[in-house]
Amino acid sequence: YKVTWDAVSAERGGYPHFMLKEIHEQPKAVRDTLRGRVADDLSRVTLDDIHMDEAYTKKVDRIHIVACGTSWHAGLVGKAVIEQYARIPVDVEIASEYRYRSPIFSENTLVIVISQSGETADTLAALREVKQQGLRVLAITNVVGSSAAREADDVIVTWAGPEIAVASTKAYTTQLAALYLLAIHFAHVRGHLADAEVRELIEALDGLPAIAEQVLDTAPQLENFAARYVEATDAFFIGRGLDYSLSLEGALKLKEISYIHAEAYAAGELKHGTLALITEGVPVIALATQPQLYEKTVSNIVEVKARGAFVLGMTWVGNEDLEKSVDEVIYLPKTLPALAPLVAVIPMQLLSYYAAVARGNDVDKPRNLAKSVTVE
Ligand code: G6P
Repeated sequence: YKVTWDAVSAERGGYPHFMLKEIHEQPKAVRDTLRGRVADDLSRVTLDDIHMDEAYTKKVDRIHIVACGTSWHAGLVGKAVIEQYARIPVDVEIASEYRYRSPIFSENTLVIVISQSGETADTLAALREVKQQGLRVLAITNVVGSSAAREADDVIVTWAGPEIAVASTKAYTTQLAALYLLAIHFAHVRGHLADAEVRELIEALDGLPAIAEQVLDTAPQLENFAARYVEATDAFFIGRGLDYSLSLEGALKLKEISYIHAEAYAAGELKHGTLALITEGVPVIALATQPQLYEKTVSNIVEVKARGAFVLGMTWVGNEDLEKSVDEVIYLPKTLPALAPLVAVIPMQLLSYYAAVARGNDVDKPRNLAKSVTVE
């Protein structure tokens, strides 16, 4: 009998890297984050862990979301859905910027800090600053008992479990789950969503773990794509609306671990500069999950194709016509368009993962980066 696993690979549950393990843990992490936070009959969100009464929930007139890195990208999605459903104006701020300027608050501004670790120095500094000004702070964090959890007025814990790989994956998807719950909760209490709409959204949320599971099956396609682009020096991620928010996270993932220069661009903004960088063979990852923006995005895709880009498109099953405009398509199992980022991020995580592996990089511990930036 020979033991072939060392302690570390045992910890990795048989996966070659923590990142791949954590990517695969997302269906469970999202399920755990949603569990107990919606009524059994799916009629309403029950965020019992936050102590905002109905009067306060109705009074909030402005939200500032403050975070760094991937958590900031989750905040961008949070803004879109809170504004769409609850109609509360939201600003999303990078913590290291926010803390050094004098943001404008109202008395009823709610500050939401998002931090996987709950220990990021700039995010904590921002939290302390606004608390001192008397504002209410809600923390979305993955670490029970972290500084952010202890110092905020309210906490929503994401039940992602320990995230070891420096590049964040399941923390992001669980942060999104928490933000969706919050958006629906605010919208329902404030009367912006009817009971039937709330139910439709909650049913869709409830279906996300199963959808996330199916999306993991795109892995071979992304591994193959990554192998063909192993020598790429640049890549571009384009999309509109929520697809743009997600493009930023896709580009960050690729930069962090594959070290390929990657840029995210709002597709409609390409003509204002980035189009000059599109040359023969440059990989462009184009997201087209938002029905009301679909045609517009396709026309941007046609523009990059005309300059010779190799376009990997991503859209829902059923949008097979996208094949006419791109070189390759990743199909996502259908859910509500508002939930697309949680689903569509998974192929992007896989793309970055396989690109990093193909390039022989230290996937879990990329150069120059730390899991948690606790100093300035
Ligand atoms: C570091 C990590 C990122 C993370 C960011 C914010 O840069 O490498 O993955 O998104 O910090 O961390 P936090 O713990 O505050 O979410």
